[in-house]
Amino acid sequence: MNTKFHLLTIDKVVKETSDTVSISFTIPADVKDDFHFKAGQYLTLKTTINNEDIRRSYSISSAPHEGTVTVAIKKVENGTFSAYAQNLKAGDQIEVLAPQGNFVLKSDGTKNYAFFAAGSGITPIISIIKNILNANNGSTATLFYGNKSGIETIYKNELDALASANNNFDLHYVLTREEGANDVLSGRINKAKIEAIDKAYLADKNIDDIYSCGPESIIQAVNDYFVGKGKDSKNIHFELFTTPVKEVTGAENSSDEPIPDVNASVTVIIDDEEFQFDLSSKGKNILQAAQDADADVPFSCKGGVCCTCRAKVIEGKAVMDLNYALEPEEVADGFILTCQAHPVTDKVVVSFDEY
Ligand code: FES
Repeated sequence: MNTKFHLLTIDKVVKETSDTVSISFTIPADVKDDFHFKAGQYLTLKTTINNEDIRRSYSISSAPHEGTVTVAIKKVENGTFSAYAQNLKAGDQIEVLAPQGNFVLKSDGTKNYAFFAAGSGITPIISIIKNILNANNGSTATLFYGNKSGIETIYKNELDALASANNNFDLHYVLTREEGANDVLSGRINKAKIEAIDKAYLADKNIDDIYSCGPESIIQAVNDYFVGKGKDSKNIHFELFTTPVKEVTGAENSSDEPIPDVNASVTVIIDDEEFQFDLSSKGKNILQAAQDADADVPFSCKGGVCCTCRAKVIEGKAVMDLNYALEPEEVADGFILTCQAHPVTDKVVVSFDEY
């Protein structure tokens, strides 16, 4: 796993809305290979504010064929990094981890896609849509994009231009504080709204795959509605854009298995180096314990959302408090989010070097 941060120079900053900037980076020739990305992946940015190492992950909004790497950063309440980012300008330098993430197209075949996004959740979605349109393989994309108003809609001009240039892209804004184009497209995106949208706009589209990105409420509503309608959950993909509401205390467990009381011997492998420590199943998570043992392990959200701390259990077993980032197949293959994981066998070996 590439866990090294690179110092990149900002090439361009564009104010997209009153509280969102998009930032494009110059990628030096010697790290170009590290910064190849798939549409839907994200970057982790790092800086030091008041002596604190602050990292945040932001989805890439450009598409691979565009030759730029751009992220959008929306100012969030009490958000130290997002407030700092609003003042960045061309020529500034910032440390950036190579692209990561699983919220990508699962195949490059011809498909009909439906997308649901809200607010800054548009960033990975616009990248994926541009990728689909560029592939020009007969796939179609239909986007429902929720915002308070037109003026607060990130990438509105670019989306409008894409929709008018591509017959296979249908774009619908869903607005809460302004009248939408009609009743169906006005109001919050919740389960009832998704049902109305499905009946009005998707009934004859034969949708294969559904992607959603935004707050947990929208992701849950998309999932509940389409699974309830009989859609296979392997065709419903999501990326959560806020830390989950659920508070994690001690070794809570996202599966229903009881957690045994174990004092494990844990080995963490990163960049071929081994770190060994004892860790209780009811104590700190593996990421925190590895940091305490001086391992330079990758992380960003620490909330089970971003996937930056992903590693593989190659011996023993660990369970996670929360998992909003790994696909079921990855979990079955032994991957964990170390910021959420606790050992449950006497010996556990976790490797960050496995893909
Ligand atoms: S640091 Fe984001 S999921 Fe663990």
